[in-house]
Amino acid sequence: MQNGRHLVNLALIGFMGTGKTSVGRLAAEQLHFEYLDTDELIQTHTGRTIADIFKTDGEAAFRALEKKVVAELANRNKTVVSTGGGLPANAENLASLKTHALVVCLWASPEKIWERVRNQSHRPLLHDPDPQKKIRELLAVREPFYKQADVLMNTDIRTVREMAQQVAHQFRIAVAGQK
Ligand code: S3P
Repeated sequence: MQNGRHLVNLALIGFMGTGKTSVGRLAAEQLHFEYLDTDELIQTHTGRTIADIFKTDGEAAFRALEKKVVAELANRNKTVVSTGGGLPANAENLASLKTHALVVCLWASPEKIWERVRNQSHRPLLHDPDPQKKIRELLAVREPFYKQADVLMNTDIRTVREMAQQVAHQFRIAVAGQK
């Protein structure tokens, strides 16, 4: 673990459809932490849906809102936060999360991701003529960022409950290690 880190929170990063929300909620229960989701925070702050922000203002505007939320998270304590899939693909966002949170990446193969998101329609980036290709392309760009997480967990082979237990366990180990 790098110096200058004070691990009081747990951040889940990873591609859309890797289970950040369900794993995050359960891990928060197990740790008796509060649960937050960066997309939900953005929606609460703006009173708009993510889809509307993308459609009306464009992706760059959404990324700027994500940055603001990341800065706010640095003031949190005892919080599990699930982050939007593209949030850590910005080096500053990732560095900021790492100052106060153990960063756990939930990983899945493009095939599993497609299986999980194919019947959902709320993700603007997947409104594409070839969403499977888009998933592979985005994953390739984001992989170097995702792999900078403290812990990388393959979700293809585990249940949500197992992952939440593992995530909570890794957090306890990391906190014990910094004392
Ligand atoms: C995005 C993922 C979404 C949401 C937005 C953009 C991305 O969050 O932030 O649609 O860039 O991968 P989830 O990962 O929670 O679906």
